Amino acid sequence: MTIDTFHCSMCGRRIKVQTRADLPIFDPGTGFGICKNCVKNIYHWIEDEESKRGGRSSKKGFYATLGNLLEKNKPHVIKAYLDEFIIMQDRAKKILSVAAYNHYKRMKYELDNRGSDDEIEKSNVIILGPTGCGKTAMLSHLSKLLDIPFAVTDASSLTEAGFVGSDVEVAVRNLYYAAGKDIEKTEHGIIYLDEFDKIARKSGENNSITADPGHEGVQQGLLKMLEGSFVEFTERGQRKHPEAPTIKVNTKNILFIVGGAFVGIEKVVEQRIKKGDAAIGFGSEVPSKEDTDKKFNELIHQVRPEDLMKYGIIPEIIGRLPVICTLETLDEDALLRILTEPKNAPVKQYEKLLAMDNVKLEFEEAALRAVAKMAIERKTGARSLKGIIEDVMLEVMFDIPKTNEPRRVVITEACIKGEEQPKIFPVDEINLSKESA
Ligand SMILES: Nc1ncnc2c1ncn2[C@@H]1O[C@H](COP(=O)(O)OP(=O)(O)O)[C@@H](O)[C@H]1O
Ligand SMILES: [Mg+2]
Repeated sequence: MTIDTFHCSMCGRRIKVQTRADLPIFDPGTGFGICKNCVKNIYHWIEDEESKRGGRSSKKGFYATLGNLLEKNKPHVIKAYLDEFIIMQDRAKKILSVAAYNHYKRMKYELDNRGSDDEIEKSNVIILGPTGCGKTAMLSHLSKLLDIPFAVTDASSLTEAGFVGSDVEVAVRNLYYAAGKDIEKTEHGIIYLDEFDKIARKSGENNSITADPGHEGVQQGLLKMLEGSFVEFTERGQRKHPEAPTIKVNTKNILFIVGGAFVGIEKVVEQRIKKGDAAIGFGSEVPSKEDTDKKFNELIHQVRPEDLMKYGIIPEIIGRLPVICTLETLDEDALLRILTEPKNAPVKQYEKLLAMDNVKLEFEEAALRAVAKMAIERKTGARSLKGIIEDVMLEVMFDIPKTNEPRRVVITEACIKGEEQPKIFPVDEINLSKESA
């Protein structure tokens, strides 16, 4: 090589060329050259992409380990994991554990019987339950546990092609990314469509005449996906236009789980039951909160496909969701447990946060109960628990980091009710009070 300095055609930097290795790619005809550094970067980029895609070798590994995965993900094991985070909702946890396990089994069966058209059909699941009872939380924990790609998509953000919003293909695209852009893995993943009730057709009796931005169209689009079809989409960030390169995914073996609150579905059930039978009543007086909950729970567990149809989901879709899974309302005791028991319980989280500032946090039992009571008044299930505590804790969380001394904070019922601020005690006082107690 006769050149001693050169501008890399990629990074544009001026490099000193002493040996061939300094300019590994060079075309004397055009003067095009790439420096050592850039070649290295390209190599790493290819390596990264390869491993993200699962590469040839790791893909083989995935299927080779299916037997192990089956052993590892037995329903009781999945349920035990969900139990660490989700209070109550036993039936729902069982249904999901079985659904996930069967999904693995189907995959294995398909591979063991490659070439034959003998197959086990999948059983998509529909989950119903009031706001804040744990639907989204349960599915997001499940997704963390499983070794197969799992993507959660908010169905309420989907619109019919042509409307402002995302097309239904987005759900598959999210799964494709969760699968590290491996098409084969994508085709065996699980898609959770949250807020599924938001795409109900707005023509049911109890619905107002609001604009319906193509909800029926969204359902038709989703139906195609549920039935199993090739879904085409562009990479994230790419505008859809005729020349944009697309990715094609067959949804035949993707397991679909859909969930939503389906507000008012219990009334649809009640109406249906009323026709044949006397209504489930609790006397003529104004029903208590417990009675209302009990009635709701009794009704929601009786949801049948025809009720969903009446609610505004097209029959073809309901036909593709054979497993109906219902969650119950959480009562005060359940909310109390949610505050303290789960692995990521709000109380545990605040304890950890304050411990980092050398502070021991204590909640009085009555305080926790007051939080649960407040959450019930807000009618958003467990959803408002953390917010209530956050409000109460604001001032102490602001004050505590001012010093580093070991201290102790006690949250009383009066704190929750806003009647007093949480008290900060020096740690000696803890010892004193413990000794005197
Ligand atoms: N049964 C439950 N057990 C433990 N935590 C729960 C439960 N239900 C709700 N939560 C908590 O309440 C919050 C809201 O729940 P989420 O799952 O979003 O409700 P939704 O049923 O409306 O999807 C989450 O932070 C979740 O951790
Ligand atoms: Mg939710």
